[in-house]
Order: sequence, then C-alpha cells, then structure tokens
Amino acid sequence: MNIPSPQNRPELHELLAFYMEAGVDEALAEEPVDRFAEMAQAQAAARPASAPEPSPDRRPQAFVENSPAAPPQRGPATAAVPDEAQAQLARQLASRASNLDELREAMAGFDGCNLKFTAKNLVFADGNPNAALMLVGEAPGRDEDLEGLPFVGRSGRLLDRILAAIGLDRNSAYIANVIPWRPPGNRTPTPHETEICRPFIERQIELVNPKVLVNLGGPSAKTLLNTTEGILRLRGNWRAHMTAGGTTIPAMPTLHPAYLLRTPAHKRLAWRDFVEVKMKLRSLS
Ligand code: URA
Repeated sequence: MNIPSPQNRPELHELLAFYMEAGVDEALAEEPVDRFAEMAQAQAAARPASAPEPSPDRRPQAFVENSPAAPPQRGPATAAVPDEAQAQLARQLASRASNLDELREAMAGFDGCNLKFTAKNLVFADGNPNAALMLVGEAPGRDEDLEGLPFVGRSGRLLDRILAAIGLDRNSAYIANVIPWRPPGNRTPTPHETEICRPFIERQIELVNPKVLVNLGGPSAKTLLNTTEGILRLRGNWRAHMTAGGTTIPAMPTLHPAYLLRTPAHKRLAWRDFVEVKMKLRSLS
C-alpha cells in the first residue's frame, strides 16, 4: 500500500512546513480528533426530537455563523466563543475565591477560555505565596505547559539568575502569568483571551497581597497597570496596581526575560529595575 508521506506527496511537506512556521510543532494527543463529527453530535443532541435531520450535505454550523437565521452553536469540547459573558463569569468565579486554593480550583474548572483546550496544563503559580515580591509574566510557553509551572524554560532560568542577583529565589518570591494556559505555538494571546483571564490574575494578586509587584514585559504591564504605553517607556518607573478591594501595590514594569535573551544589551536596564525593586522591598520591610 502506498501510505501518503511527505516523500511521495510534496504538498504534505509544504503543509508540515506551514504548520512549523505557524508554531504548530507538537501533537496534542496520540489520536486525531474529528471536531466536525463532535459538532454534528452536539447539534444532534441539542435538536428537539421533532426537528428534521439536516441534509447530509449541510455544512457544519461553524461555517454558517454569520447567517442571521442560524445563530452559532457551541460544541462541548471547545470553549464557547469568547465574549463578555465569559469575562463576567471569570469575574464572578475569581471574586468568590477566598484563598489561592479556591482560585486555582475555580480556574481549573473554568471552560470560558479556548486556550485551556489546547494547553496540557493549567500554569497557576510557583514560589512562595507569602513572599513580599510577586512577579507576573505574560503566558506560559512550551516548557511551562509541560510542567504546569511558570518560568521554567530558558527565560525562567534567566529570571532565577536575576532574582539571585537581588538575593531572592523561588522561596522568597511568587511567580504567575496574566494568562494561565499556553497559547498554541506561543502565539500572542488575543485581547479577548486577556480580558477573559484578567479577573483571575487580578484576584491572585489581591489574595497574595505582595508588598511589591513586578510586571515582566509589556503585556503584563499593560494589562495590570491599565496603560497602553510601551514597555521601554514604562520600565524603570514605579506605577501602582489597584486591586478590586482598593489596595494600592507599588509595581515595577521591567523587560521580559525572553526579550533580554534576544537583546542582551538591555540586561543592564533590567538590572537597574531590579535594584529599584530591592531598595523598595528593603524600605517596606
Ligand atoms: N514567559 C512568560 O511570560 N511566562 C512564562 O511562564 C514563561 C515564559
């Protein structure tokens, strides 16, 4: 039998190359999943018994979303279309969590962010929740997704060295991300995904109640400091993060370790920022 392979089907080779370039570089499961069949099954289950069977050539609902006569259907194994209702549900769940364990449980049970369905693990946090310093990055990468812990890959190792330079480690700092699920192929999270996840990280900060917050990179700074300014302008200047309960936490926006790995000349800027952080922690202790 002639099994299709990139060798005898050059278009497969091109498709694989396209996937690699788009960041689709690993299988999520051993077996492929037929989402069309799942969707058809869900629609059949939702259809009243008296409703006629759709004709066999009818396109799956996902392709007719824009038809006014056919509102979009939601499949069971993918997140509902991200919308304000999901962000509202996230806000409710987050505000009901009275400690970090409850928050982690609420996030693990939340199906409103589609990133959850392509990620292997929820990446909640690492470090000491009683620490005076909390650092917040953007979103987990591949290594973090596999381990379920933030900043364990190359940029995490650099972050550990930066912390060590100011006399800290993961026992004396708490680390989390704005987005707790890895975006596929490490793509940038969409504004919608960020808005849906925002209540969780805001509540996490509120529950940890650190003396000082460090925003690692532009997305963390913009999301948690409510600004549109770029990180090169923001970094090095103290800002304030306001919690929902009205507490003000001094926040230092700084360069993301992944950026520093690509732009080592800017490590000196990050160094200055962390010296500021060290002095602030000392003044508040
Ligand atoms: N980059 C981030 O922003 N967070 C991680 O956890 C890892 C890399």
